[in-house]
Parts: sequence; structure tokens; C-alpha cells
Amino acid sequence: MLTKMKSDLALALSSPTNLSTEKIIELFEVPSDPKHGDLAFPCFGLAKTLRKAPQQIAGELAQIPLPASFKSAAPLGGYLNFFFDEKTWQHLVLGEIQSKKDSVGNFKEGQGKTVVIDYSSPNVAKPMSIGHLRSTVIGQSLANIFRAASYNVVGINYIGDWGVQFGKLAWAHQNLPELLRLASKNEGNIVQRGFDSKFWKKLIKDAQDTKSGVPVTFDYLFAIYVLFHAVAEYEPSLDDYGREYFLKLEQRSAHRDQLTQDIEKSWEEFIKVSLTEYKKVYALLKTKHDLVRGESFYEDHLKDVVIALQKCKLLVTSEGAQVVDLSSYDMPPCLIQKKDGATLYATRDLAAALNRKTEFKADKLLYVVGAEQTLHFRQVFKVLELMKYDWASECQHVSFGLYRFKEGKMSTRRGNVVLLEDVLDRAVEFVREIIKEKNPDLENAEVIAQSVGTGAVVFNDLMNDRQKNIDFDWDKLLDFNGDTGPYVQYSHVRCCSILSKWKKNIPSSSTTKVLVEPQEKNVLRLLGRFDDVVKIALSQLKPSWVAQYLLELSKAFNSFYYEHRILEGDMDLQEARVVLAESVRTVIAKGLSLLNVDAPSAM
Ligand code: ARG
Repeated sequence: MLTKMKSDLALALSSPTNLSTEKIIELFEVPSDPKHGDLAFPCFGLAKTLRKAPQQIAGELAQIPLPASFKSAAPLGGYLNFFFDEKTWQHLVLGEIQSKKDSVGNFKEGQGKTVVIDYSSPNVAKPMSIGHLRSTVIGQSLANIFRAASYNVVGINYIGDWGVQFGKLAWAHQNLPELLRLASKNEGNIVQRGFDSKFWKKLIKDAQDTKSGVPVTFDYLFAIYVLFHAVAEYEPSLDDYGREYFLKLEQRSAHRDQLTQDIEKSWEEFIKVSLTEYKKVYALLKTKHDLVRGESFYEDHLKDVVIALQKCKLLVTSEGAQVVDLSSYDMPPCLIQKKDGATLYATRDLAAALNRKTEFKADKLLYVVGAEQTLHFRQVFKVLELMKYDWASECQHVSFGLYRFKEGKMSTRRGNVVLLEDVLDRAVEFVREIIKEKNPDLENAEVIAQSVGTGAVVFNDLMNDRQKNIDFDWDKLLDFNGDTGPYVQYSHVRCCSILSKWKKNIPSSSTTKVLVEPQEKNVLRLLGRFDDVVKIALSQLKPSWVAQYLLELSKAFNSFYYEHRILEGDMDLQEARVVLAESVRTVIAKGLSLLNVDAPSAM
């Protein structure tokens, strides 16, 4: 909507300034204080070419005939500020929202283009960490935003399902009595190092008691994983067994003896059990990947990567290993193949990138992964560039910071790591309690508790610039009056309730009376910015733009709501205000959907 106003005005400014309309549109700014106007044109750049002071240029340009959609222009310190014609603006903004509905904020930039987004990507047999929460919610929101921009999106869950740890796990699983014997033998040592041996053994035992034999539950898997590593510190032979088992897994197509088949079966089981566990979280968060394609998928492609690297003469031998030397780029070498022939994380990422590029004809490859892997991605992208793939520049690591928890505030089911599910469970539980207390007759209370509880956690993540660390604070996160998801959701509920009290049809925006109160104009101003906000979020790959915007819009709407009665008095005014509330509802709902947060109609 702002775009339309900008292009109207750029047309009028083009000949007097001798600038292209594109250039003018690029130069426009939105004044931070609405008193200064709706659009500002900075004249500083023109000062040089026109050999005049910016103030003088602004003064002269103020005389040009304005497009009908503008009311006035006023120079201010080197800027020329423009004021919209209120009626045109209101009808433009509300009309567009009314006609576009759910598709408000959508645009065509990505038509015919494909983006592959790698997000969530947890490691099999390990619970999802808070880092995976971040990847899941940031990645899903970006997928939604890219879809709004008409891109074809392929969301991939690149689970960590390959590597020597699966040999270790398979060994632990198939030799559990031996692992437990070694754990007891070394109990003194491992307990001394702060390892809660009892806790983990009990987890294993509980898993065994439920059925005969050893069922592979997720808790069991994680427990044997942890116990194996603790014991291996004192029993180095365990690592050898792990390597041996993994080698069998790697060579399973060539040698299919009984043990190999058993290892393969265990490994498949580990993946299945882990995915079932992750799906619980994805169901809560409404996460939707298009594909689960883990590291192991690329196993058969790894040889080709090594060959391609050899062809490009990029591989050098270093201490028996094959590496790509990146010293000219101030980076340590990228490890491709170990002495024993085993490939690495980077090798698999190279194979995956090549495959994504060719299979999906991807125009962009995004990796939503914590900042701790920055070097890894720089190395991988550099190697692609050295392989002369010009699309290496279209690969981007969408990195994010850490959560910082206040000491001692979270105790969890699996020891002292803070886990995602616990955070979500706790938020939902908290909302359940509030609903019981404040709104005991609410219909669908459980569904709403989930929407609001998980919405609070997700919004709290997305409202922060992803690159910054987040101080995790329960009280702030769930404060219904603070900068939170529930606050935005509540504003949506408020619009819904106004609309349900309005018993007549919603009038067409084109016939409504002009709204003149400052609170109303402020809401209109924000509504008109929504398109731009989505575009910025897309170009910076930062959903925080959308979240921050929603907070601002909610605040503006609420201050309008407190100052003015919507469903009282002059009927023309009531109609105009109902249309305004309807538009706010539409935009909040759309904004929340881009963040993958529910917008309940009651709470
Ligand atoms: N599984 C990895 C981890 O949890 C993240 C994978 C990210 N994606 C990638 N293509 N490397 O650390």
C-alpha cells in the first residue's frame, strides 16, 4: 500500500529531480514521528548535483504539483515531508486488506524460484535442544514468509542419523549387560565426575521393565547414549567396538552377515523412535517439513564428492587425511576424509548441497543453524566456490544466538540440560492455570492453552533479532500485558469480539467515513506498512521484523480501543471503526501465521 503511494509520488518527483522513479523510491524514508509526515524525501544527495543546499532544494520541490493521493508537502531540515490525503490513504489501506484477506502481505518476488530451507535437523538418539527449538521456529517462519513471497519452498529436516555414534549406540544396545557391568565396575570414577549414574541406570531399567526384553524407547536410547560415553572415558575399548560396529553399518551392502543385519536393524529403529519423539514437538509447534532427509541419505553420494574434489585438484593429504586447504582464506582446512576412509560432517554437507541444487533446481539454499557452526558453513560454502559452482553465493547460513537461562530455574526430566519439550509443557501448563482462574467457562480451553502457551514460547524467540543471544525469562515471556505473543493474540481476540458484537454486515471500506483521530490514523499508518515489513523480513531473513511490527500494531490498536467507543454513537463512524477493527484482525492473523503462531478468536 505504501508502495502505491511511493510510486505515485516518485512519478511526480522524477522530472524536477532528474532522478529515476526507482531511485526515488529507494530514497524515500518513513518519518519516525508521524507529525512529520507520512513519507520523507531526503534532498542531501541532490545537493551535489544541483549545487544547492539541501534545505533550499526541499523548499523548491515543495512547490511541485502533488498527485491527488497527497494532501501537502513541507520542507524540514533538508527533507521534504509529504502528507497523504487521508481519505485516499484510508480507502487504499482498508480496501486492499478487505479484498486480499488472508493473502494480505503476499507478493510475487519469488515466482518461479525455489528455496531449500534446512531447519530443525536434530540428532538421532538425542533430545532436541533449545538450539533445535530456535532452528525449528525460525526456519518454519522463514518457510512461511518465503511462501508468502511466492517462492516454491522445500523445507528439509536434515536429521543427524549418520556417524560413528550409531556404531556406539548399536553396540550399547546389543551388549547392554556388558555396558552395565562396565558401568558398575567404573561407578566410583564416573560418579566422582558428577555423573548421576543411578539416574541413567534407572531410566534404562524403567525402559526394560515395560516389556519383555529391551524395548527401544526414546528415553532408553538417550540413556544408553549417555552411559556409553561416560563409561568409555575409562574403558577405551568401547570406542573400538563403536567404530567396528559403525564400519559394519557403512559396509552393509557388501557384507550382510547376521551381526551387520542386526546393527542395521537397530540403527533403523533408533531413527524411527527418534522421529516419533520429534513429531510430538512438531505437532505442538505445527512444524511442517516437506522432507525428512538425514545425513545418511547422502551416503552413496560421498564418493562422488571426493572424486569431484580430486578432479578440481582441491584435495591434499594432511596427516593421512584428505583435506581442502583453506589457509588463503584464513580458515582451517576443511576435512573431507579421515585416514580410515571415514567421511565427515562437511563431506555430507557438500553432497547434500549438490543434491539440493540439482534435485530441486534450488535458487537459494538456506541453513538455519546456530552461530556455533559458522566456521563449518563458511568452509563448506568456500569449498563449493572453489569447485567453481557459481551458485555457492546463493548458499546462506541463517545463524542464531543462544538462550541464556537464569541459574536453577528449570529442572528437567533428563538431567540438567534444558529441553525443549519441558519449556513448552511448562508454558502450556501455566496458561491452563490462568484460564482456569480467569475464564473457567472458555470453550476449547485445552486447545487454546496449547495455542497460547506454545505461542508465547515461539513469539518470545522470534521477536528477538535472531543473531542476538536471548535471556530467557519466564515472567516476561508469559506477561499478557508485555511484549509477548499472548499480548498480540489477545489483541486479535479483542478484534474478534468487537466483530462478533457487531450484528450487521461488515461495510465495504470504500464507503466508510474518514477517520481523523490520532489513534485511528496511527493504526492506519501501521496497517499500510505491513507489506513493507514482510519484504524486509524476507530480505534480511529475520522474522523479528514481523513480530516487532505485530507488537506495535497491537499497542496502537489497544490505545485506540481505550480512547474511543467503537460500537457507540454516530453510525457512520461506527461503520468505519468496525472496518478498521476487521483490518487489524486480518493483519494480526496473517502476521501471526507467518510466525507460525495461532491466532485464537477467544482466550
Ligand atoms: N544436526 C546438526 C546439529 O544438530 C545440525 C544440522 C544442520 N544442517 C546442516 N546441513 N549441517 O548440530
